[in-house]
Amino acid sequence: MTRRGVLADMVAMEIVGMTEEYAADIVTWRYPPPYDCYDLVGADPAFFTDSRNGYFALVNEGRLIGFRVFGADGRVPGGEYDESALDTGGGLRPELTGRGLGRRAIATGLEYGAARFRPAAFRATVAGFNIRAQRVLQGLGFVPSATFDATTDGRRFVILTRRQS
Ligand SMILES: CC(C)(COP(=O)(O)OP(=O)(O)OC[C@H]1O[C@@H](n2cnc3c(N)ncnc32)[C@H](O)[C@@H]1OP(=O)(O)O)[C@@H](O)C(=O)NCCC(=O)NCCS
Repeated sequence: MTRRGVLADMVAMEIVGMTEEYAADIVTWRYPPPYDCYDLVGADPAFFTDSRNGYFALVNEGRLIGFRVFGADGRVPGGEYDESALDTGGGLRPELTGRGLGRRAIATGLEYGAARFRPAAFRATVAGFNIRAQRVLQGLGFVPSATFDATTDGRRFVILTRRQS
């Protein structure tokens, strides 16, 4: 196993409910360029704690290390979506990115989402430039199924899906 893989294995991860404290933390997150488009600074923390929006906390022994989302908030305007798959997305805490932790983070979310929502498939929508995220998703069995330009800013996105057996 690689050193990165060993590090990821040493970090216990679990999904728990989103709290006001976690949400207040998330809305301070800033990512280094070019990932600053994922900054959540200025977002309303109440959005993350509203259970209708499908946000969950990813924690290490109670400490917030990321979040996962299930449902329509994982979609990007301009993409073609149907109900054959459950949309999912999320992010690691900025200082934890680029260290090989993303695979376990997403896998932990998928395991939780599979048990809770029992979808026939998962679907993720990722910015075309974000090869890092696409690599992690493809390593977890996601397959690119479409590309489109967002109606908001024209940015290219890739839709990837993973069937659940
Ligand atoms: C997306 C995310 C989960 C990826 O997890 P991560 O732990 O940061 O990713 P890793 O460091 O394991 O990198 C994944 C792979 O991409 C590669 N990679 C990193 N930057 C790259 C780049 N600019 N170009 C090409 N490959 C790159 C890494 O070398 C690694 O390759 P490997 O599969 O051979 O090991 C995490 O960065 C994150 O949550 N970011 C938040 C912002 C974001 O991108 N959100 C969108 C989520 S859909």
